[in-house]
Amino acid sequence: MLFILPLLEKSGEDEVNQRRINLKINGMDHEVNVRPDEVLLDVLREKLNYTGTKRGCDGTGECGTCTVLIDGRAVYSCLFLAMDAVGKEITTIEYLAKGTGLHEIQKAFLECGAVQCGFCTPGMILTAKALLDENPEATETEIKEAIRGNLCRCTGYVKIVEAIRRAGENYGK
Ligand code: FES
Ligand code: FES
Repeated sequence: MLFILPLLEKSGEDEVNQRRINLKINGMDHEVNVRPDEVLLDVLREKLNYTGTKRGCDGTGECGTCTVLIDGRAVYSCLFLAMDAVGKEITTIEYLAKGTGLHEIQKAFLECGAVQCGFCTPGMILTAKALLDENPEATETEIKEAIRGNLCRCTGYVKIVEAIRRAGENYGK
């Protein structure tokens, strides 16, 4: 009981501090209560069930697994306040496949063997999308530069770069 009481008080405070906001995710509006200090990653995963977005580090911007697109730009959702995403277009990995039809980048990752454990893959693919949407003819150097903030512990990156190049060749065709 001695332990529970402070916890209850804290959770009550948290509720008081919450504000109701609207987030536009993958083209759909979501009403959600958030604290002012709550980051987008936690809101996506824990309140809205967009679990394709991963947490690979302590929210310190070290791994890139939490990458989502905000107005088409790749950002770390662990470092982005949910409240700052109001009025912006948020895109998560769940948006890319249409039914059973995979997005060009997803297809290329599979074809090139660029997925092993898959933990980095959602963030890597969204980073690739931000790049290819702007520049489908990105060179190997530009691809490496774009994904330098996305860590992969399994593949050695060669196949990931190859997959992004291949996706670029088929982009929009
Ligand atoms: S969770 Fe590692 S950079 Fe966001
Ligand atoms: S495929 Fe395992 S971390 Fe990239």
